[in-house]
Amino acid sequence: ASLTPYHTFAVAAHVRWLVHIEQDDELWPALNDPRWTGLPRLILGGGSNLLPTGDFAGVVFRLCTQGKQCVAEDAASLWVEAAAGETWHPFVQWTLSQGGYGLENLSLIPGTVGAAPIQNIGAYGVELKDCFEQLTLLDARDGSLHTLNREQCAFGYRDSVFKHAWREHGIVLRVRFRLNKTATVHTGYGELQKELDAMQVSAPTPLDVAQAVIRVRQRKLPDPAVIGNAGSFFKNPLVPAAQAAALLAQYPNLVHYPATAGQVKLAAGWLIDQCGWKGRQQGAAGVYERQALVLVNHGGASGGEVLALAQAIQRDVMQRFGIALEPEPIIL
Ligand code: EPU
Repeated sequence: ASLTPYHTFAVAAHVRWLVHIEQDDELWPALNDPRWTGLPRLILGGGSNLLPTGDFAGVVFRLCTQGKQCVAEDAASLWVEAAAGETWHPFVQWTLSQGGYGLENLSLIPGTVGAAPIQNIGAYGVELKDCFEQLTLLDARDGSLHTLNREQCAFGYRDSVFKHAWREHGIVLRVRFRLNKTATVHTGYGELQKELDAMQVSAPTPLDVAQAVIRVRQRKLPDPAVIGNAGSFFKNPLVPAAQAAALLAQYPNLVHYPATAGQVKLAAGWLIDQCGWKGRQQGAAGVYERQALVLVNHGGASGGEVLALAQAIQRDVMQRFGIALEPEPIIL
């Protein structure tokens, strides 16, 4: 089957088997189907964090389960739950329509609800973990169901337990969020505040924030429906404070943010930009002209071409700054 309609990089790729899961209880029997026993397996949501680099001699399970509902409330909070296959952005807009606030900064992120906890999606000063309550997952080793709370998910920057102990066998079925009934907005991210100023809103509501985020994203990030991409291609690197200080002495404009104990987070987009990559093209693969952290497919690129471009960028950033950039998407 062709994987091309089910991922956002617009590179051609075939898979041996493609299985669409529409109900939670279809998953366990599907995992055990003798036709693909022993073959490598990939769980797919919206395909917006994936770079296929060739044909995949395995089985892809595409989670398209639907459903979202309010499950509880008290004076301060509203709990909502959604199935893994729900598309993220409409889900966020629905939470706002229900009077549940907190996810507005994460508007317009591509992908599905089930994929969101895996990399703890984050943007404009908010991360999924800030509103996360719990999730239900299926253990692909024995079919057992588990409920994991926030602590058990071990969320970090673009990281969670699903990239470590539960990697390969933890399949997210449903995610529950705890939302605020009172509208406290987070507008500390510079560009977001600037956009709200431009919109001339002085006391922004969560809906205003969603609107501002949508406008910033539409301006800065390529729409995957128009130009193939997977968002940021690299993570922002965390480096020891001493290394950051040394770099800062040499490059006073280095964009950096405080991170966890003894570490500093650097803007990978800035590093790549400084190496002169912004807007450059190598074959049909390119670096987006408005955001150097985003690699794009200008049309007809192969996954291998995109990967070659990514590696050239990694080499340059290593040579110039001594920093290893780590890809963010799954490279298949
Ligand atoms: N910058 C440059 N040149 C560039 C790009 C960025 O100098 O070509 C500088 C900017 O001037 C800015 C800084 O780098 O000072 C940060 O740029 P930006 O605000 O665009 O954010 P980012 O760090 O590049 C991260 C996330 C995005 C998220 C934004 C907003 C990662 C890997 N990426 O990007 O997430 O939308 O912050 O919060 O953490 C994604 O993960 O796919 C994604 C798009």
